[in-house]
Amino acid sequence: MKHFINLKDIPSKDLRKIITDAKKRKSSRKKLNTLEIDKGAPLKGKILIQMFEKPSSRTRISFYLAIKQLGGGTLTLRSNELHLGQGGESISDTAKVLSTYGDGFMLRTDSDKKIEDFKKYLSIPLINGLSPSSHPTQVLSDVFTVEEITKKPISKLNICWIGDSNNVLDSLIAASVKFSFKLSIGCPKNFEPGKEVRSWVKKNKKKIYIYNDPKKAASGADVIFSDKVISLNDKVNKKKKIKAFKKFKIDAKIMSFANKNCIFLHCLPRGNEVSEDIFLGKKSHVWVQAFNRVHVQKSILLYCFGKLR
Ligand code: CP
Ligand code: NVA
Repeated sequence: MKHFINLKDIPSKDLRKIITDAKKRKSSRKKLNTLEIDKGAPLKGKILIQMFEKPSSRTRISFYLAIKQLGGGTLTLRSNELHLGQGGESISDTAKVLSTYGDGFMLRTDSDKKIEDFKKYLSIPLINGLSPSSHPTQVLSDVFTVEEITKKPISKLNICWIGDSNNVLDSLIAASVKFSFKLSIGCPKNFEPGKEVRSWVKKNKKKIYIYNDPKKAASGADVIFSDKVISLNDKVNKKKKIKAFKKFKIDAKIMSFANKNCIFLHCLPRGNEVSEDIFLGKKSHVWVQAFNRVHVQKSILLYCFGKLR
C-alpha cells in the first residue's frame, strides 16, 4: 500500500507510471458508459472513504466515479457529522476505526498536521484531496491534461502560472521538479512562493522563474494556469489582496504575450482572476481538465492499492 499525500515525496518514475496507466485506461473506455466497470474490475469489493472539511464539487464526484469504474465504491463524509469533529474523538481512534471499515481514505482538510496525524495511525492508503500546502491529485491530473492536449511531453513545454502562491501552485512547483519542466510564475511581490518550497527546489538543483509582471511571466508560455486569488478559508484581508492582484487578471492582452498555441487551464472554482472571454474561449480547456481527474485518480487509486500495471 502507498499514500498519495504530496508530489514532492513520490518518485518521478511512479508519477510517470500513473500518467501512462491513466492514458491507457482513458482510451480503452471510449465505448463504455459512465458507470460501466473497467475490464478486470481491479478494485472490486474495495471502498474508499472520503472526508471533506471544506467544500468540493470536482474532487468528490471524480473520486466517486474513479473508484466505481474500477469496480469499487465510496462513502463520502463531512467531518462535522463524525465524532471526530463534534465530540472530540481523537484522530488516532478515528483513523483506526476507518482502517477497519475502509480500504482507502481520502481527506480534504485545512490542516497539514491532520494529514500527518492520519498518516501515522491509518493502516490503509491516505490520499490528500487538498490541504493548505498541496493539491496533488489536481496537479498530477493537470500534467496529464497538458500532455494530452499539446501531444508533447511536459518537459518540452514552457509552463506559466499567474496567480496566488497557494496549495495548487506548491504542487505545480513540485511537479516542475519531478517532471523537469520550466515553470514561470507571475504574482505580486508580497505573494511570491514561500521560502520552504523555494529552498526545496534549490535543494533539488532546479529553478523556478518568478516575475512581478504578468506579461513577463506569460512571455513564450505554452500553457497558462491560474486559480482563485482567495482560496477556500483564506484568512487574508480580501479587499487588499484582490487589489494587489488587479493587474494579474488573465485577459487577451496577457495571453498575447504567450506562444500562439498557448492553452489556458484552471482547476476551478474560479473568481475574478481570469476574464470571461479567456475562460470560455478557444484556448481554454478547463472542462476536459476537470473531466480528466476521473481518469488520473483511477490510476492514483491503483497505485495506492498496489495494483498499478
Ligand atoms: N479543483 C477542485 O479541487 O475542485 P473542488 O474544490 O470542486 O473539488
Ligand atoms: N486554491 C484553491 C483550490 C480549490 C480547488 C483552494 O484551496 O481553495
